[in-house]
Amino acid sequence: MKRIIVGISGSSAPVYGIRLLEILRDVDGVETHLVLSAAAHRTIELETEEYPIDRVRSLADFEYHPHDLSARISSGSFVTHGMVVAPCSMKTLAAIAHGLGGDLLSRAADVTLKERRRLVVLPRETPLHLGHLRNMVALTEMGGICLPPVPAFYHRPHTIDDILRHTVGKVLDVLGIEHSIFTRWDGPPAE
Ligand SMILES: Cc1cc2nc3c(=O)[nH]c(=O)nc-3n(C[C@H](O)[C@H](O)[C@H](O)COP(=O)(O)O)c2cc1C
Repeated sequence: MKRIIVGISGSSAPVYGIRLLEILRDVDGVETHLVLSAAAHRTIELETEEYPIDRVRSLADFEYHPHDLSARISSGSFVTHGMVVAPCSMKTLAAIAHGLGGDLLSRAADVTLKERRRLVVLPRETPLHLGHLRNMVALTEMGGICLPPVPAFYHRPHTIDDILRHTVGKVLDVLGIEHSIFTRWDGPPAE
């Protein structure tokens, strides 16, 4: 059983984390552990009509309060496959890059790094100042993976969900989870 921690922080586009949970629910042998930051409650409320908070919570196998620093995902002795922060606000990025661990989301990310497990963050802000970029460098130097949710167009997306699935598929690739949620580039179509 692969335990994946999913953190949803309070930047725009919580729908990335929500689609990730939905897709992981259909993957055999995966167990999801969700932590929503306090700010994520607000962005989910403001940006998604079809996903009330309780529906988002119900997508995960386990869910934790962001202030519960005694939750099992705050300890490295609780073995996980890795963690995804989707999306990752600049505040949470800074907290992870500096090892602050003041809430459960950044603590679980810190634990994931110290245990040398996969940490994938989807930083969401634009434009970026030097501090944001330095935090991404620091996180990368510590072994984390920055996977900005930047859409590709080579797969000819027609819907927002096509764009979401492409980014979620890239997340699954770096977690080493097989999927067929997008069509892989196989060279240009024959003339
Ligand atoms: C609708 C909305 C959209 C936001 N979008 C972003 C964003 O894209 N990136 C970001 O870093 N912060 C964004 N914020 C600000 C964060 O919510 C704020 O910095 C918060 O303190 C982040 O807390 P957290 O990292 O603990 O979730 C947004 C806030 C709101 C209300």
